[in-house]
Amino acid sequence: IAVEIHPSAKEGSKAVAQEIATLIREKQAAGQHCVLGLATGSTPKYMYAELVRMHKEEGLSFKNVFTFNLDEYYPIEPDALQSYNRFMKEHLFNHIDIPEGQYHIPDGTIPKDQIKKYCESYDKRIEELGGIDLQVLGIGNNGHIGFNEPGSNINSHTRLVTLDNSTRLANAYEFPNMSQVPRLAITMGLGSIFKAKRILLMAWGTHKAKIVCRSVEGHSSDQVPASLLQQHPNCKFVIDEQAATELT
Ligand code: F6R
Repeated sequence: IAVEIHPSAKEGSKAVAQEIATLIREKQAAGQHCVLGLATGSTPKYMYAELVRMHKEEGLSFKNVFTFNLDEYYPIEPDALQSYNRFMKEHLFNHIDIPEGQYHIPDGTIPKDQIKKYCESYDKRIEELGGIDLQVLGIGNNGHIGFNEPGSNINSHTRLVTLDNSTRLANAYEFPNMSQVPRLAITMGLGSIFKAKRILLMAWGTHKAKIVCRSVEGHSSDQVPASLLQQHPNCKFVIDEQAATELT
């Protein structure tokens, strides 16, 4: 895995936003659409702010862009404070010119007996568009990517999963109390993520240093899902100096 270390999260985020913008513009120039895989959480916030800035100040257009978000809690209403649907509108989609219908976020309100079909259609839609050109990832303290917790199958598709307790604890700050953190989520699978032509995983801060080290330097194992990225032909970790402190 390539590792790119930046002095700060801000600079790392700008570099990722720049790479995304370059890809969008290249595709535009070639008259093609661009398919992005997107993440939520604290990690990509500044990167989205930078994309919004580029849209407003530099004329970066998203008219040729299709996006697929990695995950959403289940069940959750799209306008709930903690919903990733809401997060994406507030941080990106409300501020750019992406046509409605071109962004996709797993729906946390799908009736349970329809989830399987819904997830299949999510993956199918990605394939119909030619697959993901660039997938953006964060990383959980246990090495999860999307909500693929340790033990997830490398070939897994989009599906309903049970969140690890450590993940619920890590995300509890977003909720009034721990008991209100959903136990389930819909996530793109590791197989779906691995089909992306390029993957950029971002990690900032000392609290991510250990898991970044295990993912980059450790044995590639489904016990640390991010370490499976060692097997992807075109993946880069973009991290700040703090997240790099455990690397040898
Ligand atoms: C979110 C996602 C998760 C987060 C991870 C880190 O869409 O897929 O894997 O990237 O839980 O979260 P933060 O960025 O809040 O540390």
